[in-house]
Amino acid sequence: MSEVRVAEVQRFVGQEVRLRGWVTHVRSSGKLVFIDLRDGTGRIQGVASKADVAPEIFAVAAGLSIEESVELEGLIREDPRSPGGCEMTIHRVKRIGDSPDYPITPKEHGPAFLLDRRHLWLRSSRPHAILSIRNEFLKACRDFFYDRGFVLIDAPIFTPAAVEGTTTLFETQYFDEKAYLTQSGQLYMEAAAMAFGRVYCLGPTFRAEKSKTRRHLIEFWMLEPEVAFADLDAVLDLQEEMIVYLVSRILDSCRAHLAVLGRDTTPLEKVQRPFPRVSYDDAVGILNAEGHPFEWGGDLGAADETLLCAKSDCPVFVHRFPTAVKPFYMKTDPCNPRLSLSADLLAPEGYGEIIGGGQREDSLEILERRIEEQRLPRGHYEWYLDLRRYGSVPHAGFGMGIERTLTWICGIDHLREAIPFPRMLYRLYP
Ligand code: 4AD
Ligand code: MG
Repeated sequence: MSEVRVAEVQRFVGQEVRLRGWVTHVRSSGKLVFIDLRDGTGRIQGVASKADVAPEIFAVAAGLSIEESVELEGLIREDPRSPGGCEMTIHRVKRIGDSPDYPITPKEHGPAFLLDRRHLWLRSSRPHAILSIRNEFLKACRDFFYDRGFVLIDAPIFTPAAVEGTTTLFETQYFDEKAYLTQSGQLYMEAAAMAFGRVYCLGPTFRAEKSKTRRHLIEFWMLEPEVAFADLDAVLDLQEEMIVYLVSRILDSCRAHLAVLGRDTTPLEKVQRPFPRVSYDDAVGILNAEGHPFEWGGDLGAADETLLCAKSDCPVFVHRFPTAVKPFYMKTDPCNPRLSLSADLLAPEGYGEIIGGGQREDSLEILERRIEEQRLPRGHYEWYLDLRRYGSVPHAGFGMGIERTLTWICGIDHLREAIPFPRMLYRLYP
């Protein structure tokens, strides 16, 4: 007898097969027992008839509980009314693991209740859809860069120094030294770009941010490409091409998952090149003209970002932020020393910043000055300064927040659902 996964039952119509999974629902009419089964690849209904099966098998079927694990054997029949197009006529039921009083029920549960039970909640259809999209999304990210000749270079997690400012560092003991969990793999990607030309990393990063917003996680994943000989415009072009590719890959491969989430895909279909490119100076003008006071020199907040995207179907670039709001490594704009060759990409529909990046300072003297001005411990950056001592070239890159981008594509409210086990300000469990 064939051992079959639910996703492939269509190929087994008319055959006896064995399915293994978990029971999501049981109801009995006296003569028939209906069992809904999920196995991770899909869901199917099985029907056991009192007339067809031995009394002890019928009794087992009728007595199954929610999330009990079982093995079902039976005949696969075509059934146009069922969501997957097939049903099973059950001939045998084997219990594997009991599940008395499964805590997650079809009634509404609050987020705290569900997050405390994230290890079980993963089985529900909504997290299953989001994490299936995440799986496709990460595959699409790797394909995009692989197909364009980028080399995947993994960045370390333990690091000696800050990348994105010293206030959000997670400190940890590293034998006799202090170490920090990485905030970004960027500096290592700059080294790798000088060795391989075009590189990227994709992994977890950490920020001890005391912000409890729906857009912040303490541990989040970032994709960070870095390109030798690229300038700011070149990496904005790359971001556009990548975002259009990723959105279309998800639309092509994840329709059913997006439907589970009730995601209206019309806004995603409109994501096409080119994306608007607004300078920071112009953004300040737009905000003030819209009656939303914003002073030149500040960083953009969530409300500012929403307003700047309000008139666009596509993500919007804001470029050339003041040097003072960006980290030490950003290249100064040769046309205006108060500005940096930096850019953020803001997602539409109120989702805000999903990418931050820019051109890197390639002059040894300026970089040394910036490290001094920002009072960073120079000794920890000597290796990084070597990149400017030995064959420095113009280069640029960016970091895309995986959960930020997924939250937008999935059309959900909070980043905590876009990662399997979220780490938040007050959550380290499970
Ligand atoms: O803008 P950020 O801080 O940029 C960097 O880390 C650069 N070193 C990246 C680079 O150029 N290689 O972070 C990049 C992106 C943000 O746009 C956002 O999408 C995401 O990372 N991000 C967060 N996502 C979830 N929770 C947080 N606390 C995040 N902080 C940043
Ligand atoms: Mg940023």
